[in-house]
Amino acid sequence: MILNKWDRLRVLVSSAIALCLLVSLEAQELPHSCARPDQVAIAHLHLDLKVDFENQKLAGSATMKLNRRTPDKMLFLDTSGLKIFKVQAQPSGKELKWSLGEHEPDLGSCLSIELVEGAEEVSVYYESQPSAEAVQWLTPEQTTDKQYPFLFTQSQAILARTWVPCQDTPAVRMTYSAKIQVPPELLAVMSASNPQKKNETGVYEFEMKQPIPAYLLALAVGDLKFLELGPRSGVYAEPSVLKRAVWELADTEKMISAAEALYGEYRWDRYDVIFLPSSFPFGGMENPRLTFATPTILAGDRSLVALIAHELAHSWSGNLVTNATWDDFWLNEGFTVYFEQRIMEAIYGREYSEMLARLSLDGLLAEIEELEARDTWLKLDLRGRNPDDGMTSIAYDKGYFFLRMLEEKVGREKFDQFLKSYFKKFAFKSMTTEGFLNYLQENLDEKIDFKAWVYSPGLPADVPVVQTKALERVEKAAQAFLDGLSLPALVDDFETNQWTTHHWNHFLRSFKNNLSPTQMKKLDDQFKFTRSRNSEITHDWMMLVIGSGYQAGFPRLEEFLTEQGRRKFLQPLYEKLATTPEGLERANLIYAKARPGYHAVSRQTIDKILNYKPTGN
Ligand code: BES
Ligand code: ZN
Repeated sequence: MILNKWDRLRVLVSSAIALCLLVSLEAQELPHSCARPDQVAIAHLHLDLKVDFENQKLAGSATMKLNRRTPDKMLFLDTSGLKIFKVQAQPSGKELKWSLGEHEPDLGSCLSIELVEGAEEVSVYYESQPSAEAVQWLTPEQTTDKQYPFLFTQSQAILARTWVPCQDTPAVRMTYSAKIQVPPELLAVMSASNPQKKNETGVYEFEMKQPIPAYLLALAVGDLKFLELGPRSGVYAEPSVLKRAVWELADTEKMISAAEALYGEYRWDRYDVIFLPSSFPFGGMENPRLTFATPTILAGDRSLVALIAHELAHSWSGNLVTNATWDDFWLNEGFTVYFEQRIMEAIYGREYSEMLARLSLDGLLAEIEELEARDTWLKLDLRGRNPDDGMTSIAYDKGYFFLRMLEEKVGREKFDQFLKSYFKKFAFKSMTTEGFLNYLQENLDEKIDFKAWVYSPGLPADVPVVQTKALERVEKAAQAFLDGLSLPALVDDFETNQWTTHHWNHFLRSFKNNLSPTQMKKLDDQFKFTRSRNSEITHDWMMLVIGSGYQAGFPRLEEFLTEQGRRKFLQPLYEKLATTPEGLERANLIYAKARPGYHAVSRQTIDKILNYKPTGN
């Protein structure tokens, strides 16, 4: 057969296409996971676990309903530090051959299971280790009320595998159910339908009917009490925290309604919040139906409830439409910060949300200075790294400003419609950055130069302008103080009695660590910052305490670093301490005492800063 030039070209092109197809079918390897859901996907997970406080382990089984998409025989599950006893096929009960791969840093070991024909379900009998990074086991002394032990998990980003063998990738969704046995004096709650009070047996059953990714698996066990907030919301907390918590979260129902009015129906039935002991390493975690929250937002004046708006917003951005990989993390967090600000604006007004936006912009600009250029693209590249590295203000705040830029370009009405349709169309699906950009191009008429935002470093020139008279006034106050204005005059001229947490944050941050101990004393005498019980203000003040060497602040610094374990507060303070030899010495002394109380997520970060080499555990 003689082929002319065009035929040859056609053959070449079609074989290239065939090759590409083949490669993409063959090598559907997922980042940060050994799962192959293109072959076998977990459709449903049932956990049957006993919570053993004495030995600090979860023991029992995980039974998975399989969706076998190809004749492939291998099922690969992510695990890390799990002890596997046996694997059975269901319904036959036949034991299956399995092996554990080598332990890789961050990723753990791949559990390979040889399936047999007809195996529709697989049960893995296993237990977790005391060192499981997702899980923190607290002694009674480490809880707020100091009466009973406590346990909570934190699965995002890739820690679910340290307590459940699973396909630990946000690209796979499953429904789940669970039977959890706890000591009868404790209550168990999960990211699922929850009990509201204890029973005598200590056995609790859970169900999550909507399909979710593994990073949203969550469990908390403790001496928990529950109170209603509204018809579909409530709060869990230790007894002494509960009333304060209910007071602080009074606007939760309003937030849910505001959110629904913006981007469509709430799809998870109930919205509850649990306040964990203060070692919880994050501000909040959007576990579906049950946000996990730090008690450090209980300021007593409702000034830190934007965090609840944020976690609630994840019920759309993140939990309904989920980032397909951790490189697309901004699809979760940038959208959520945008949505959070819209909820806050709807309830508290534009002036308020503009203050939040301004603080977010300042944080973003500062962090861009610190990061490698490649880490400042919205689309991240976390190959070979811990996805935790992606938790910077880029995903959150650059993501937010990108969406705000789009809103301002096309107009709010159109943009809201667009977002609403996006959440509806892709509900219960995973989304890549490119998938979103395509949908954007198809559904908005305006030409958008997204390249400068998504695939370039830093901040583009079209970053939106934030207008906040209130915070501009605060800057004037800070300058007046530096120029020597007396404190009584400052209080009068700038009406500091009216200031909220956000004013104070902006005031303290504007000094950029350039105060003398004398100036610090003046401020402290007037405003009692060292004695503040507002965690955000304490954090900012302590940064200045370290920077200025203001001695009277150091006992409270040690206390603050010991009484709570929220990484956002710990990390900058330890980093700042570590910049001088005396500071480093102080940091090491404090850390030696505080470290046993921190969750593994925070420990890992601070270990690195202080070059701490853990022995054992
Ligand atoms: N989903 C995040 C927390 C998270 C991200 C945990 C990545 C592990 C890996 C949560 O929604 C969040 O963003 N929390 C913030 C609070 C928020 C108001 C910015 C936090 O904990 O600081
Ligand atoms: Zn978030």
